[in-house]
Amino acid sequence: MGSSSSPSCLLVGVFLFLAVVVSAFPSVVQAGITRHYQFDVEMANVTRLCSTKSIVTVNGQFPGPRIVAREGDRVAVRVINHVPYNVTIHWHGVRQLRSGWADGPAYVTQCPIPTGRSYVYNFTIVGQRGTLFWHAHISWLRATLYGPIIILPQLGVPYPFTKPYREVPVIFGEWWKADTEAIIHQALQTGGGPNVSDAYTINGLPGPLYNCSAKDTFKLKVKPGKTYLLRLINAALNDELFFSIANHTVTVVDVDGVYVKPFDAETLLITPGQTTNVLLHAKPYYPNAMFFMTARPYATGSGTFDNSTVAAVLEYQNPSRSSPAVFAKNLPLHKPTLPAFNDTSFAANFTGRLRSLATARFPANVPQTVDRRFLFTVGLGTSPCPKNQTCQGPNGTKFSATVNNISFASPTTALLQAHFFGQSRNVYSPDFPVVPLMPFNYTGTPPNNTLVSNGTKLVVLPFNTSVELVMQDTSILGTESHPLHLHGYNFFVVGQGFGNYDPAKDPAKFNLVDPAERNTVGVPAGGWVAIRFSADNPGVWFMHCHFDAHMSWGLKMAWLVLDGELPNQKLPPPPLANPSLLPLVRKLPFLVRWAAGGTEMGMKKAMKIERREGEREMGGWETPKRAECRIPTAIRCPPPPKKKSPAMALGKRRAPPKNGYFNPPDLEVLFALSQRREACV
Ligand code: C2O
Repeated sequence: MGSSSSPSCLLVGVFLFLAVVVSAFPSVVQAGITRHYQFDVEMANVTRLCSTKSIVTVNGQFPGPRIVAREGDRVAVRVINHVPYNVTIHWHGVRQLRSGWADGPAYVTQCPIPTGRSYVYNFTIVGQRGTLFWHAHISWLRATLYGPIIILPQLGVPYPFTKPYREVPVIFGEWWKADTEAIIHQALQTGGGPNVSDAYTINGLPGPLYNCSAKDTFKLKVKPGKTYLLRLINAALNDELFFSIANHTVTVVDVDGVYVKPFDAETLLITPGQTTNVLLHAKPYYPNAMFFMTARPYATGSGTFDNSTVAAVLEYQNPSRSSPAVFAKNLPLHKPTLPAFNDTSFAANFTGRLRSLATARFPANVPQTVDRRFLFTVGLGTSPCPKNQTCQGPNGTKFSATVNNISFASPTTALLQAHFFGQSRNVYSPDFPVVPLMPFNYTGTPPNNTLVSNGTKLVVLPFNTSVELVMQDTSILGTESHPLHLHGYNFFVVGQGFGNYDPAKDPAKFNLVDPAERNTVGVPAGGWVAIRFSADNPGVWFMHCHFDAHMSWGLKMAWLVLDGELPNQKLPPPPLANPSLLPLVRKLPFLVRWAAGGTEMGMKKAMKIERREGEREMGGWETPKRAECRIPTAIRCPPPPKKKSPAMALGKRRAPPKNGYFNPPDLEVLFALSQRREACV
């Protein structure tokens, strides 16, 4: 590279050197900034498998836009609903410390956003780094309304593994040719199982193994010898997935936004609601071949499921060809072999390998003592068919699903509002059972009576209660693996096993040293899983099966964690933009609104800058040319972006924009006090 003496590249080299010096001292890490996003929820026509339908999207994109933030950053997302459905967005896996109002599940932490209204989700990302995702949290809208959340370490803090050359979100979805809202609506009417999907997708694309889909294939193009960080997300509705890349082994480094002890795997299991970061080490040489990356379900239930396979293609850039890179056609194509669809021992082995990093820098703070113990059964059941109707569930009944045999009845008032304003009567009761009310041999012959009860019941926990929860699958209508997701917390998976949980013998085998820490765990088919968490986040926190079919049938419940004594242990009042408060807010004079919410123009400008920077920080996967130019020996550099001061090159940040969506607290309190709890419209 004869141009190493070119002044501009020399300059880049100096900055690079300084950047290295600065990043060698993580103590200079600054407090986070605010990242602003605007999500316009709008309909868009999308064609897959040769049929076109109108789907709900964010900003017309499918999958939706990604959120990029660093650990410690505040994220403010303004969601504007332009579609004929009520909408909410959930930031799946974000801990939402004292920001329960921004969590998102409809009728749990907020009223849904009606057509034509907006809501600002405002939260700070604390102590998490990795991949999470956002999705709609009402009915089945998340079928098309989802996208990645990328959490980078704080500026100057390296990954505890090889720095990847590029980072690539790989998001699994599930696609129906028909309208998914119609499907779930009809299923709930008839009591039968909802129609299974027509395809799985990777980054929205079903791939060449489906009819009329070859052109809709995700291609991952890599360079020999480089390391890639794949940020895997299972956003499918009803299916756990096996995933594998032909002739490649990946290294698992992070699950659900928590680092794990790295381990190599040829095949992964990922349930809906789970995320997994893996390092893909590209082969050191040009392999003269292409490789399928495929996913298909791990299915344990007795119902039908979509048994198809989604495929993406891993292609190598041929280094002997000159730029621009040429990707040869007609190379041999290798296919991975995936486990059988019901390979439960693979599932148990794989999840058994997950361990927290548990270092001084990233400790595993497993609760060592337990204040309260719970045993919840999770599984299916039936509810009676209404008179003058025929039902398509088991034996002419309707399908139902429960936790401790209670099918959760969705309230019409948001639980968090009812709690916060002390008006819970007729909304929920605080008496969710600690153990099954009628014990039986959970994984043996199922009882004759499979009828469930219905209710809106919560477990109430004092602040900082240390909880141990055993979730036990049942054999009612067949054993099945259920991916249980807890909002507002990560938990430690301290034990799991098959058959019935034995409180006398099983605790002795618990891992209290380095268990996996996550937000979604598969309750093994015909088995149990034990988790621990410390209830240090006040609010109402949903817990449910992340199969939407089961969630629609009622496999969900909620925890109410009370405020602690100290001011920083209390849930703040709801934000102004709460949809049910809007009519009141509208009456406010303009000036007060401006003071409280910031100006429109300031926001738009801030958002543009934030988005650009977010993409840049992700390693510039989408703008490889610029990123390459940071290497001092690169021959041709595109002109440096204008107005980029040396301070920015060193990683210094602008001050956060003043016109955030943060409302002055006194005004908020004023509002909270002046408003009444009302049912959602
Ligand atoms: Cu990703 Cu309540 O869910």
